Amino acid sequence: MSLRALASWEKYFCFDTAYNLLSNNFVNCGMNETNFKNKLYTNDNLFILNGMNSNFVDLIYLDPPFNSKRTYSAPVGSKAAGTSFKDMWTWDDVNEAYLEKLAEDYPALEDFINTVSIVHSSAMSAYLTYMTQRIIQMHRVLKDTGSLYLHCDQTASHYLKIVLDNIFGKNNFRNEIVWCYTGPSGAKKNFPAKHDVILRYSKTEDYVFNPSDILIPYSDATLGRREYAETKQKGIKFKGKEYTEYLKGKIPPDWWCDIPSGGQISRKERTGYRTQKPLKLLNRIIEASTNEGDIVLDPFCGCATTCVAAEQLGRKWIGIDIEKQAVGLLMERLGDASGVFDNFINETIPPKRSDVTIVEPTKKEVRERLYKEQERICNGCGNEYLLKDLTTDHIVPVVMGGGSYYENYQLLCANCNSIKSKYPMEYLRMKINARKSKMLTKIVFGR
Ligand SMILES: C[S@@+](CC[C@H](N)C(=O)[O-])C[C@H]1O[C@@H](n2cnc3c(N)ncnc32)[C@H](O)[C@@H]1O
Ligand SMILES: [Zn+2]
Repeated sequence: MSLRALASWEKYFCFDTAYNLLSNNFVNCGMNETNFKNKLYTNDNLFILNGMNSNFVDLIYLDPPFNSKRTYSAPVGSKAAGTSFKDMWTWDDVNEAYLEKLAEDYPALEDFINTVSIVHSSAMSAYLTYMTQRIIQMHRVLKDTGSLYLHCDQTASHYLKIVLDNIFGKNNFRNEIVWCYTGPSGAKKNFPAKHDVILRYSKTEDYVFNPSDILIPYSDATLGRREYAETKQKGIKFKGKEYTEYLKGKIPPDWWCDIPSGGQISRKERTGYRTQKPLKLLNRIIEASTNEGDIVLDPFCGCATTCVAAEQLGRKWIGIDIEKQAVGLLMERLGDASGVFDNFINETIPPKRSDVTIVEPTKKEVRERLYKEQERICNGCGNEYLLKDLTTDHIVPVVMGGGSYYENYQLLCANCNSIKSKYPMEYLRMKINARKSKMLTKIVFGR
């Protein structure tokens, strides 16, 4: 990032953070290492990441939706019943407020994403934009010695790698880990897809890596001849090398076939959350790339596997999920796993950065910025208005836990605002659609 871009980024950021100051909910002051408490945020991770200090966390593991055009729902009766998440992408998922910034700071990525819309689809480029907005923030909050592991699959891994190369720098690419598993498959004319891809990047050259904590046993074949094994057992020199240190095993290669997935996760560990990842997978990642007491962040934490693994390994953690159910599942899991229920805080309001100077904007400035962003249009009916005829509304109503911070504000015309009242946007949309179809019926009958 150029200095000019960096400067404008900080300026932009201060402005943004300042909107949080308008909040009545002063619960969540800036996070720093001395007042740190494990946190589970229930909100869009983009807003939470925006409010976190730079150079703050030691490890980020993310297992985002894969753009696989499926909506996952947990089985009825399972611990995760009622949860589901959208895995289909449209431009509605992209937060327009940050697009200009993205294009300014990462022009090559903008070109790349445009190309993807031609080569692949508009849905894929929307997904990549959505991911890019978040990965930029993840890179910022990661410490210089930190690492990021992005868990994905063949659907988008090749595109995501280009995004990561651009944001982290191609020299900070460390591994493409292939996680293999078995299980039934419906494939008839293809080789069944039985692996995920985990892209590993460090922020700089000087990153934490603890090989001795993740060693796996040598295969019998490697141990080979008995006397070779015996020589190692005794810790004596073999072909001039001292082998005692290596007795414990070897560093796993970049393909992991020793960690069962999905249905093979133990009954006790299983929550029913469709995309739950095994603790063993997270244990390896956390042990390899952090030390005790370090902070682990999972911005798409689902049923909070990363948080549980971090807790068990004596690391601090921050989990973020847009779905409320994550909190309940974490409570249950932490209870089962370690009997600890009360060592974390659940928040919905984004934190406020304490590492930048905050310039407080007025409510007028908030409205003006929204007006520009919404291009003079009411977010409900889509009609154009003068600013004076638009009212400020909480997207997620305050009674449903929505906070008074910039990202939760929108402008609605008076009519839409009175229909929406204290309900979420889905309610307003339903009402508007019902009205439209009624009008259509009238028009058809009127003919
Ligand atoms: C593939 S799952 C993660 C599963 C997780 N690794 C586990 O072991 O349970 C992806 C998760 O991302 C969450 N999610 C999707 N978009 C999000 C967003 N913008 N902010 C926060 N969480 C989001 C979904 O609710 C879902 O729980
Ligand atoms: Zn309206």
